[in-house]
Amino acid sequence: MTDKSNIAAGHIELKSVSKSYGEGDNYKEVIKDCSLEITPGVLSVMIGPSGCGKSTLIRLIAGFEKPNSGSITIDGRPVEGPGKDRLVIFQESALFPWMTTEDNILYGPRAVGEDNSKNRDLANFLIDKVGLNQFKKKFPNQLSGGMQRRCELARALINQPEVMVLDEPFRGLDEMTKELMWEYYANLYEENKATNFFVTTDIDEAIFLADRLIIMTNIPTRVAAVIDVDIPRPRRLSNIFELDQANTIKMKALKILHEEAMKSFRSGSKAAADFIDAYSKRVAS
Ligand SMILES: Nc1ncnc2c1ncn2[C@@H]1O[C@H](COP(=O)(O)OP(=O)(O)O)[C@@H](O)[C@H]1O
Ligand SMILES: [Mg+2]
Repeated sequence: MTDKSNIAAGHIELKSVSKSYGEGDNYKEVIKDCSLEITPGVLSVMIGPSGCGKSTLIRLIAGFEKPNSGSITIDGRPVEGPGKDRLVIFQESALFPWMTTEDNILYGPRAVGEDNSKNRDLANFLIDKVGLNQFKKKFPNQLSGGMQRRCELARALINQPEVMVLDEPFRGLDEMTKELMWEYYANLYEENKATNFFVTTDIDEAIFLADRLIIMTNIPTRVAAVIDVDIPRPRRLSNIFELDQANTIKMKALKILHEEAMKSFRSGSKAAADFIDAYSKRVAS
């Protein structure tokens, strides 16, 4: 895979971005005065309570929607709409059911007129990296949920986008599969080092993956805190939470998220109640 670590492309900058929907009684402010920078070669992970506005922010960066005010630029260019420089993987991304693993992965380059033969080596490299060698000729319905996600990762990476945005891509997978996914994804990231922006509500996932952790406030969302996660790579799930460093960051992040949840709990939001539930479970364990 092309080494992009020395190319400073894919620098995303949000300045005072606000986004609201509806009018009158239906008016809802989702993002308020949010400023944020996502730098190339750094795995930025955004964490925030569910319903705070993360996916809305992703849709703005992807160019699917426009902010009401503020600016979003990539390498200084304003985002006017979707672009080939950005690739977004949503939780509900789906493979083409009528194509094999290999054909699904080769789809992107083929769609822009490239010959399969040109990309087969890269496809094989990625198939190997995501552990799907035995499943190259299988169709999506012959793959487990985790394998399908791995196939989606490879399908996105073959396009070598400057910016990869992943919105809770592993949500809904069982714990063990999810942990495997983290290792595959971290491994792929270590290989490609493009600008990666990963969104999650899972604190362990966030710390295992992140170089930089961006913690969001409750709705209307903006950045509450940014924490650098200077834990060396490759990381191992088997021991990362034995490190004081990882646990200190985890406690610090949870404290901020908890404060945010409490604020919205006092205002009666359901998402906050859910978060507090999850938080208590983690602290108890
Ligand atoms: N098109 C829309 N119209 C009205 N409200 C919206 C729209 N899109 C998102 N919202 C509201 O924005 C809030 C944040 O949603 P979302 O960005 O999906 O949160 P998250 O991804 O953090 O869980 C939700 O309360 C949702 O109802
Ligand atoms: Mg979301």
